[in-house]
Amino acid sequence: MSLSNEHKTIVQTTFGQVTDANLLARRFYERLFEIDSSTKPLFKGDMSAQRVKLMQTIAVVVNSLNDLSSIVPAIQSLGKRHATYGVTPEHWNSVGSALLWALEDAFGEAFTREVRDAWAAAYGLIAQTAIAAASVEEVNPQ
Ligand code: HEM
Repeated sequence: MSLSNEHKTIVQTTFGQVTDANLLARRFYERLFEIDSSTKPLFKGDMSAQRVKLMQTIAVVVNSLNDLSSIVPAIQSLGKRHATYGVTPEHWNSVGSALLWALEDAFGEAFTREVRDAWAAAYGLIAQTAIAAASVEEVNPQ
C-alpha cells in the first residue's frame, strides 16, 4: 500500500473541510458498533472523551502525512496499546469501513471515488503499520 503525494493532498484538504469533528466522530462510532458489535465492549471509558481523542489523533496523523517517518514510532506505539485493549486486525478493517462511511456521510457527493481512494490508502498504511507493530514479539535475550 503506498500513499502518493496526490493522496496526501486530498486527505489533508478534505480533513480541513470537516466542519463538525464531534459529529463525524459520533456518526463513526454509531456506524462501527452497527457493522461490528464486537468492538463495542472494548470501549470502557467515556465516549465523549474518546471522540475527542480519536479526532485529535487523526488530525496529528493527517498533518504529518508529508513526513510519515516522523509519526511511525507513534503509530507503532498506538498499535501496541490497541492490542492490549483487545483490538484485532479484523477490528482495524471494521474501523476503516466505518471511517470511510462517516466521511462519505459528512461530505455527500463531494466524497468522490478519488477522495475515497485517497482516504482508503492513508488509513490502510496507518492500520498496516499499527497491526505489524502489535504482532511483533519483543525479544528479551537473557
Ligand atoms: C487510525 C486509527 C485509530 C486511532 C487514531 C485511534 C486513536 C485512539 C486514541 C488516541 C485512544 C486513547 C488511548 C491511546 O492513545 O492508546 C484510543 C483508545 C482506544 N481505541 Fe483507538 N484508534 C484507532 C483505531 C482503533 C481501532 C481499529 C479500534 C478497534 C475497535 C480502536 C479501539 C480503541 C479502544 C477500545 C480504546 C480504549 C478505549 C477505552 O479506554 O475504553 N481504535 N484510540
